[in-house]
Amino acid sequence: MDTIILADWLSARLDRTAAEPMYRQVLELMQQAILTGQLAPGTKLPSSRTLAIDLGIARNTVLHVYDQLTAEGYVSSTTGSGTYVADTAPRDGASKKAKAAETKAPCTISRRGERLIAQAGVSPKQWGAFMPGVPDVAEFPARTWSRLQARLWKRASPDLLTYAPGGGYRPLRRALSDYLRVARSVKCQPDQIIITTGIHQSIDLAVRLLTDFGDRAWVEEPCYWGARSVLQSSGLTLVPIPVDEEGLNPASRDMTEPPRLALVTPSHQYPLGMVMSLARRRALLEFARQHKVWIIEDDYDSEFRYGSRPLSSLQGLDDAGQVIYVGSLGKMLYPGLRMGYMVVPEELVETFRIGVAELYREGQLMQQAVLTEFILDGHLTSHVRRMRGLYG
Ligand SMILES: Cc1ncc(COP(=O)(O)O)c(C=O)c1O
Repeated sequence: MDTIILADWLSARLDRTAAEPMYRQVLELMQQAILTGQLAPGTKLPSSRTLAIDLGIARNTVLHVYDQLTAEGYVSSTTGSGTYVADTAPRDGASKKAKAAETKAPCTISRRGERLIAQAGVSPKQWGAFMPGVPDVAEFPARTWSRLQARLWKRASPDLLTYAPGGGYRPLRRALSDYLRVARSVKCQPDQIIITTGIHQSIDLAVRLLTDFGDRAWVEEPCYWGARSVLQSSGLTLVPIPVDEEGLNPASRDMTEPPRLALVTPSHQYPLGMVMSLARRRALLEFARQHKVWIIEDDYDSEFRYGSRPLSSLQGLDDAGQVIYVGSLGKMLYPGLRMGYMVVPEELVETFRIGVAELYREGQLMQQAVLTEFILDGHLTSHVRRMRGLYG
């Protein structure tokens, strides 16, 4: 297109009744003309005065458009000589080849991406009666939470508005370690707690730090779809291990080829609900100790037990430092909070603190501070007690 036709071409496309300012319309049309090659590299643009007259718009508008085109690299101007379309097309035949490929294969995702999408278990419905693993969020004590939140925002300490130091808000880690020691017999110091955005992220982090592509991972058969997806898309080879009324039940042939990692739900098998027996727990821990197998204990909803007292955590029985304990606050409070915690063996604390900061650049300290006050003021315990009654 030469510059004489440019004004006609623009005129035919401008919508003078539209709410969109003239400046934006002209700018976008000219960008489009340059990207599609209708205005070829090297073409001299009409002077701003001429184009303004031809289009019947203010000269300032055209000057503004030319300035923006220059700033974004679409055109270059030399004082006294004029404004020219810049040559920004990709070099050589590569772009032609890329264009041809684009038309043949509109989008290629990775094999693991394909598998993840094909086997996805996530439901579009995330709340309602009989949704497994989802609390009744309508009962959440929103007023209490918002009062604590307002109090903290009033002070808005800068420390709470920055990135989190590796591992999360220290007072929350202390409060959670006290809670887990008493409620779940977890052996831990505050330093061993790493705050995450939930169990999905905790598993992802553990897998990235403790396993390599192609390693074998035991999963319960059946198991939580989300955990399976995280493990599988990290390139692990999943080995499904059957469960019976005592929990995970590996056959002797499974034991001859120890995995690098095993993911279990000993307190409440997901989705079948049985509790792993003490004998099976001890056998699994001994196997893990002998063969250096990492165990991820997913203790996702242990607060809600009926009929019998919950067994203590598997982590509490582990003397060899092979268990990574993961839990979620989503089941006790509300899932959209996206907060969870992991308890890692002492010698891995530094690795996990650096790993979590390096991979996810954590934040949400304000949210973590609100939760700390919620726990320390006793609201967590009373909310869980009330919900237990209600669910019962
Ligand atoms: C067994 C199990 N683990 C983990 C999760 C997810 O936890 P989070 O929301 O903390 O990622 C669920 C959610 O339903 C679950 O059922």
